[in-house]
Amino acid sequence: MRETRTLGHVMVTGGSSGIGLATARLLAQRGAKVSLIARGEERLAAAAKELSAVARPADVAARPADVADREAVTRAVAELEEEQGQPCDVLISSAGLARPGRFLELSDEVFRQMIDVDYFGTLHVLRAVVPGMVERGRGSVVAVSSAAGLLGIYGYSAYGPAKFAVRGLMESLRAELTPCGIHVGVVFPPDVDTPQLAEENRWKPAETRAVGGTIKPIPAQQVAQAIVKGIDRRRFLICPDLGTRALSRFGSVLTPLLNREFDRRVRAVRKSGPNS
Ligand SMILES: NC(=O)c1ccc[n+]([C@@H]2O[C@H](COP(=O)([O-])OP(=O)(O)OC[C@H]3O[C@@H](n4cnc5c(N)ncnc54)[C@H](OP(=O)(O)O)[C@@H]3O)[C@@H](O)[C@H]2O)c1
Repeated sequence: MRETRTLGHVMVTGGSSGIGLATARLLAQRGAKVSLIARGEERLAAAAKELSAVARPADVAARPADVADREAVTRAVAELEEEQGQPCDVLISSAGLARPGRFLELSDEVFRQMIDVDYFGTLHVLRAVVPGMVERGRGSVVAVSSAAGLLGIYGYSAYGPAKFAVRGLMESLRAELTPCGIHVGVVFPPDVDTPQLAEENRWKPAETRAVGGTIKPIPAQQVAQAIVKGIDRRRFLICPDLGTRALSRFGSVLTPLLNREFDRRVRAVRKSGPNS
């Protein structure tokens, strides 16, 4: 379907900020019922209030929950379905966090946290909504991975594997759920101008900053538009810019070339002092 149909009940984890909020806003404008899940109650309430200005206030609902906590997220999904009077038709799993750092300097806790939030946070909410979608024979599930889920980048030894895992999960689900009438999509954003990127930048080693170069982050709105288009067209790969689109399709050819250039940048930083 290519027209701008309404999408029923859309649930967005990480819907209180950045990519999740921008996507929720677009879908609310399209007349969808929108439910938001995130931890911080204040930001969640502010986001719901903002969406109520572009949708019918009765069509916007929110529940605080930590996506890493299976019970909490399952309960939030059930309560939101009850409040909206409709099961989840579209899930956008955007909740996540990134903590860069050199492998030797990151704590075990960071490695676990990335997997808990970025991977299990995606898995738990999918486990909560997919059984109902399979029963009804329709629905759409979209998870936000990252460009760091397409290739290994200096400083992302904790975050990257969690986003690779999200990609692997969605690839298997695509194969299993497409025959059940369910659309499965995975999003690979490059750097996006959101609070997460601002926080991430505080932790980036000099080498990671050099690898990123001077590429300008794209606006969250651009990612949101790509997600909505991806849902409309039932696309699996959702790439909001040319770079990630090329990488997602021609990774095996492009990765060695990119690695050569990135290694050169890392060597240049290390020559001028590795701890800068
Ligand atoms: N920004 C980028 O450059 C970029 C690039 C590639 C991929 N991504 C991915 O895009 C997704 C959205 O990121 P963003 O840039 O939009 O970040 P953001 O603006 O910081 O938003 C993150 C959202 O996730 C929620 N969240 C974080 N941890 C959570 C948890 N444990 N349980 C429930 N909600 C949680 C946050 O709310 P609370 O903190 O209140 O819970 C917030 O609503 C993430 O998966 C991120 O890894 C971002």
